Amino acid sequence: MGYDPDFPRAHYDRLADDEWTRLTRSRRGELNYLVHMDVLKTHITTEMDVLEVGAGAGIYTKELVHMARRLVVSDLSEVQLALNRNHMRELGVLDLVAEHEVLDMVDLGALEPGSFDAVVCVGGPLSYLLDKEPVGVQQLLRVVRPGGIVVLGVMSLINTVVLAMGMLPAEKEAIGMDNLRWLLETGLQDREHHPASEHYCHMMTSTDVDRLLAGEPVDVVEKRAAGVLGMAGEAALDAVREDDDLWNLVVERELAWSRLPGTLDVGDNIVYVIRKR
Ligand SMILES: C[S@@+](CC[C@H](N)C(=O)[O-])C[C@H]1O[C@@H](n2cnc3c(N)ncnc32)[C@H](O)[C@@H]1O
Repeated sequence: MGYDPDFPRAHYDRLADDEWTRLTRSRRGELNYLVHMDVLKTHITTEMDVLEVGAGAGIYTKELVHMARRLVVSDLSEVQLALNRNHMRELGVLDLVAEHEVLDMVDLGALEPGSFDAVVCVGGPLSYLLDKEPVGVQQLLRVVRPGGIVVLGVMSLINTVVLAMGMLPAEKEAIGMDNLRWLLETGLQDREHHPASEHYCHMMTSTDVDRLLAGEPVDVVEKRAAGVLGMAGEAALDAVREDDDLWNLVVERELAWSRLPGTLDVGDNIVYVIRKR
């Protein structure tokens, strides 16, 4: 199936403010968040004009407002954008956002080419574009200046399969072995192979991201796995979280191991920092 913006829009309109707590209501989410913050603190500076694409309810907006010189916030979903605005107002930082704009990342034509020093597109907006993924990447690159960076995060297929292993028998029952094989081999949950779902998305491996970037005028600055130790499960992480020394040690390891080539595909998200030539 081809990309249809109505599906991700309806999905995120429906999720509404659940998105605001998506990375705080579990320890797994917290680890994922901390790696993203480490990446953003490393690469985003107060001399940068930054565009946030697929910003959602504002989990990273509330941080980026303090990190960037100028911040433009965008999302496909008007509901998410309104929530983002409300949260920034509640936090007293709304006036630090230059603009909130409804934008589909397959068409950023409303923005001047090369008008940003950095684009932040994390938490998986690219994972909804299906056949339009190359267009999405090219649009992000279009609005960043030569020498500028894109922070790009996608959903990890392998992490999802590990966490959903217990559901595979029911999935086989629901969609059949051939469709399940397709899902695991390609990461594509689309209408043809998963008719009962309306969460059409592409869970990726780093090979998919590499393939998307091949041929684009970019250098990869770094690749990070976000949320690797989340695979330990909430019960174990909750117990560790009660002891500050233990939690700090686990966070330290999460951040260190997020840089290992061998962990790249097993975190919740695969995050690339790329520089436009
Ligand atoms: C998992 S949320 C991530 C939100 C935020 N970046 C974060 O990490 O919390 C994905 C967001 O991407 C947005 N999105 C999905 N498809 C998009 C598209 N084609 N263009 C722009 N945003 C899109 C959704 O509306 C949603 O807010």
